[in-house]
Amino acid sequence: MASKVPEDELRLALAACHRALVVVAIASAIINALYLTGSFYMLQVYDRVIPSRSVATLVGLSILVMLLYGFQAILDLIRGRMLVRIARSLGQDLSLRVYHSISRLSLTSRSVGDGLQPMRDLDQVRGFLSSPGPLAFLDLPWLPFYVGICFLFHFWIGCAALLGALFLVMLTVLTDRFTKGPQRAATAFAVRRNALAESSRRNAEALYTMGMTSRLAAQWGEANVKYLDAQQRTSDIGGGFGAISKTARMVLQSAMLGIGSYLVINQQATGGVIIAGSIIGGRALAPIDLVIVHWKNFVSCRQSWHRLNDLLRLLPEPPNQMALPKPAATFEVETISVVPAGETRIVVHDVSLRLEKGRGLGIVGPSAGGKSCLVRALVGIWKPVRGTIRIDGAALDQWLPETLGQYIGYLPQDVELLAGTVAENISRFEPGADAAKVLAAANLAGVHDLILRLPNGYETNIGENGSSLSAGQRQRIALARALYGDPFLVVLDEPNSNLDPEGEEALTRAILAVRARGGIAIVVAHRPSALSGVDLVMVMAQGRCQAFGPKEEVLSNMPRRPSAPPTLGARRVLNEIGVSPP
Ligand SMILES: Nc1ncnc2c1ncn2[C@@H]1O[C@H](COP(=O)(O)OP(=O)(O)O)[C@@H](O)[C@H]1O
Ligand SMILES: [Mg+2]
Repeated sequence: MASKVPEDELRLALAACHRALVVVAIASAIINALYLTGSFYMLQVYDRVIPSRSVATLVGLSILVMLLYGFQAILDLIRGRMLVRIARSLGQDLSLRVYHSISRLSLTSRSVGDGLQPMRDLDQVRGFLSSPGPLAFLDLPWLPFYVGICFLFHFWIGCAALLGALFLVMLTVLTDRFTKGPQRAATAFAVRRNALAESSRRNAEALYTMGMTSRLAAQWGEANVKYLDAQQRTSDIGGGFGAISKTARMVLQSAMLGIGSYLVINQQATGGVIIAGSIIGGRALAPIDLVIVHWKNFVSCRQSWHRLNDLLRLLPEPPNQMALPKPAATFEVETISVVPAGETRIVVHDVSLRLEKGRGLGIVGPSAGGKSCLVRALVGIWKPVRGTIRIDGAALDQWLPETLGQYIGYLPQDVELLAGTVAENISRFEPGADAAKVLAAANLAGVHDLILRLPNGYETNIGENGSSLSAGQRQRIALARALYGDPFLVVLDEPNSNLDPEGEEALTRAILAVRARGGIAIVVAHRPSALSGVDLVMVMAQGRCQAFGPKEEVLSNMPRRPSAPPTLGARRVLNEIGVSPP
C-alpha cells in the first residue's frame, strides 16, 4: 500500500542534497568523537601528569588538545555552513513549485487566509534547517555512545547517565505532546490575522469612507491577541520543559560527581574518572537539552512540512503534453456542469454548444444566472465536474496550460490587471514583447489614443490592479490584453460594464475583427448593446441554457425586460421631482 502513495516531493528534494547530507553526518560523527577531548585531557592531567609531575607531558598533551579543539572548530563551522546551503538549495528547488501551487490552489479551492501560507511554510522549513536545531538532532544518536563510555568508567556512573537520559527523553516527548496543539492554533490565528490585514488593505476606500476601519481593527486585534496567546502558550510550555531539563542536567552532573567521590572513597575509581565522567555525562545529555530548546521550531517546521507535502500531493505537476498545432476550426462544449472551486453546489447544468471559426456568441441572462461560472469553465479556470470542452477536437487538459494560454484571450469580469506598465499588461508580461504586436492589440481594442493620453503612454505604470486608471480605462486595456497575439478563442465577461458609447463601439469593432480573422468570440453581456458584434445568442438563467441560436431568433423570443424604458413608477418619481422622462 505504501508504494502507491507518491513519494514526498520534499523528501526527494532533500534527498537530492544527499552528498552534502553525508558530509554533515560524517562531520557530526567526528565532532562527537572530538567532544571527548576535554574529558580525555582532564583524565590524563589528573591521573598521569599530576602524579608524575612531568611538565613535558603536560606541554605535549596541551598542544595535542589545542590541535584537536582547532580541528573541531573547523568541522563545526563546515557542518553549520553545509546545513545552511542544504536548506537554501531545498528552498530554491521547491520555491517555483510552491509559487505555482499558490496560484493554482486559488483556482481549485476556496482560499484560506491570504493564500500565502505555503510560501511561509517553505520559509519555515528552510529557516529551521539552517538553524542550530538540526545540529542538536544530529548529535542525538551519539547519546548511547556517551552513556556507554560512562558505563566504561564505572557501572554506577553509567546508570546515573542512563537514568538522566531517560528522564530527558521523557521531557522531550511531553514537550512535543503539549506544544503541538498551541503551535497549530498559532498558525491558524496567524493566517486569519493576515487575511484580515490583507482584506483591509484591499478595501481601504470602503472601510475609510463608511467608518468600518475601527470595526475591522477590532477583529484584527482579536485575532492578533489569540495568535499571541497561542504563541505565548507554546513558548511557555517549551521554556518550562527547557528549564526542567537544564536543571536535571546540572543535578545529574553533580550526582555523578557525588557518586564518583563515593567510589573514590571506597577506592573503586580514580579522581580523574569522577571529573571526566561527570563532564561526559553532561555532554551526553547536552543534545537532548538543545533539542528541547529547539522543539517549538521543530514542531512548527514539521507542521509546515506536512502542510506543504499535502499541498504538493494535491496539486501534482501537470504531466508533459505533446505540443498541438495552433487551433483554427472549432470550439465544442459537450454537456458540461460546473461547480465553483471549493464548493459542492452545481451552478451550471448540462450546457452544450458548438462554435465554428468566425462565430460570435453572446451570453445573456439575469445576474447570478451562471454566466461567469460558465465562461470560467470555457477558458479552463475551473474543470467541469461533468462533460468535456474541446478546441479543434482536443480536450482542454490535453493542452499544455502555457501553450493553450496563447490561444485564449480572456477578460475577467473584474478585469485583474497587474502592477506594471500598460505595455507589459497588454503583452501579458511576455519577455521582450514585440512592440508591433502590442500596438496591433491596442489598435484592435481601440485604446491606442486612450493610452497615448496617459502620463507616460505605453510605459505608464498602472499600479497594483491598475489602480491609477479609471474603471473604463482598465476594462479597455484588459480588452487589448485579451486580443494580444490574435488568440483563436476570445472570451469577454461583461466587457462593456464600464464603457461609454465610444468604448462600446470599439468593443463591437474588436469582436467583429476577431471573427473576421477566423477566431471565435464569446461575449457575456448584461446590456444588449454589447451584442452588436455577435451572430449567436445563448440565454442563461438559473444555471441552465434557456435558449441558444441565431441572435435575432433568440432575442425576438425573449420576454421584454422592463429596464429599458423607465417604468411607470419611475416616471412618476421623475415627474414629481420635475424631470421630464426620456
Ligand atoms: N467563486 C464562487 N464560489 C461560489 N459560488 C459562486 C462563485 N462564483 C459564483 N458563484 C455562484 O454561482 C452562481 C452564478 O454566478 P455567476 O456565474 O457569477 O453569475 P452571473 O450570471 O451574474 O455571471 C451564483 O449563485 C453565485 O453565487
Ligand atoms: Mg458574471
